[in-house]
Amino acid sequence: MVRELKITPIKNGTVIDHITSGLALDVLRIINIQSLDKDSTVSVAIRVRSGKLGWKDIVKVENMELSPRKVNAIALITPRATISIIRDFKVQEKRTVDLPDRIIGVLRCPNPNCITNQPEPVESEFEVTERHPVILQCAYCDRRVDSFLSQLA
Ligand SMILES: Nc1ncnc2c1ncn2[C@@H]1O[C@H](COP(=O)(O)OP(=O)(O)OP(=O)(O)O)[C@@H](O)[C@H]1O
Ligand SMILES: [Mg+2]
Ligand SMILES: [Zn+2]
Repeated sequence: MVRELKITPIKNGTVIDHITSGLALDVLRIINIQSLDKDSTVSVAIRVRSGKLGWKDIVKVENMELSPRKVNAIALITPRATISIIRDFKVQEKRTVDLPDRIIGVLRCPNPNCITNQPEPVESEFEVTERHPVILQCAYCDRRVDSFLSQLA
């Protein structure tokens, strides 16, 4: 089998692999690369072969670890992604993103009258009511949400 290397290895950082094909740029938006060190390389591969039939995207970021909130946001848009922590060029830890039962502070509620959208700071909170596909319900106003990209806080 041929081993392909499409992206330069990184010494320390995070690899987000098995991203649903076409969603790498949305993952980058969640990561907010403006907030990283200005000398950290970010590599993006869009539509890489994955297995016999499929395609995936990959994002590799030097010198960054994802906060739990960012992992939750990534899990909402691409639940099969894997996250690997790279230290000294080796995979130190690899896990799949997982969705907790409650999503706090990651999404805006689409209901403009919801208490979480009022000037008083009340952090958004959603309960995961279904997982395949994911459906969330606002803990304050019960509004259901099944599309997440546009609601990312
Ligand atoms: N030094 C490195 N720099 C950049 N990316 C790396 C480095 N080492 C591993 N990776 C990437 O980290 C991820 C996990 O590495 P691993 O070797 O476990 O991959 P794998 O065997 O392809 O596993 P799988 O695809 O099932 O997650 C892969 O996407 C791999 O390309
Ligand atoms: Mg692989
Ligand atoms: Zn609400």
